[in-house]
Amino acid sequence: MPVPTLETKQLILRAFTLADAKRVQHLAGAFVVADTTGHMPHPYKDGMAEEWLGGLDSEFEHGEGATFAITLRATGELIGAIGLTIQSHNKRAEMGYWLGVPYWNHGYASEAARAILQFAFEQLNLNRVYASHFPRNPASGRVMQKIGMKYEGTLRQHFVRWTDPEDLVYYGILKSEWRRTTNL
Ligand SMILES: CC(C)(COP(=O)(O)OP(=O)(O)OC[C@H]1O[C@@H](n2cnc3c(N)ncnc32)[C@H](O)[C@@H]1OP(=O)(O)O)[C@@H](O)C(=O)NCCC(=O)NCCS
Repeated sequence: MPVPTLETKQLILRAFTLADAKRVQHLAGAFVVADTTGHMPHPYKDGMAEEWLGGLDSEFEHGEGATFAITLRATGELIGAIGLTIQSHNKRAEMGYWLGVPYWNHGYASEAARAILQFAFEQLNLNRVYASHFPRNPASGRVMQKIGMKYEGTLRQHFVRWTDPEDLVYYGILKSEWRRTTNL
């Protein structure tokens, strides 16, 4: 079962299809994109995108994840991905996102992330969404702040991305807080 389509002012968030594989490989293949994510493979080899994309519908069907292609409303081009890793028994999800380098700093990640919060709280009926970033990735922290998440703490040397342990900075938002920020 594919994820539904979500629309925002400048973006359409839609289910990925296998036809997106080459574009994903191209955009996600940049080291600077992979470097600040938790798990993006690098180098991004042939077949990796197909494997990733091939599992997404089933993850959504099983309530374990919801991953969306971020596309520009104006041109339809695929610019990145955003998703939730869901723990339904805890009514919470972890958000993650990445964009191709040419699309950074246009507000797209924040716009997509706001739509994902609405989806998480209204459609999935979750209670909490959280996310984390490396201290060396302040742009991602800024996205979390802009969508109303609160700083919850830093886990020291919590994650080895390449060779050395790095701190992880955690942000989160509760459904009750999100309702207040959106005046719903
Ligand atoms: C993190 C990422 C998704 C941000 O996407 P984006 O579309 O550029 O984000 P937005 O434009 O919505 O917001 C970025 C904010 O960070 C700010 N910013 C950018 N570089 C910054 C820096 N070096 N220091 C501080 N703030 C910075 C921008 O000014 C903007 O804030 P503002 O709107 O208050 O001016 C993108 O950089 C990316 O894909 N990085 C690689 C993958 C990754 O790190 N994913 C997240 C893993 S936690």
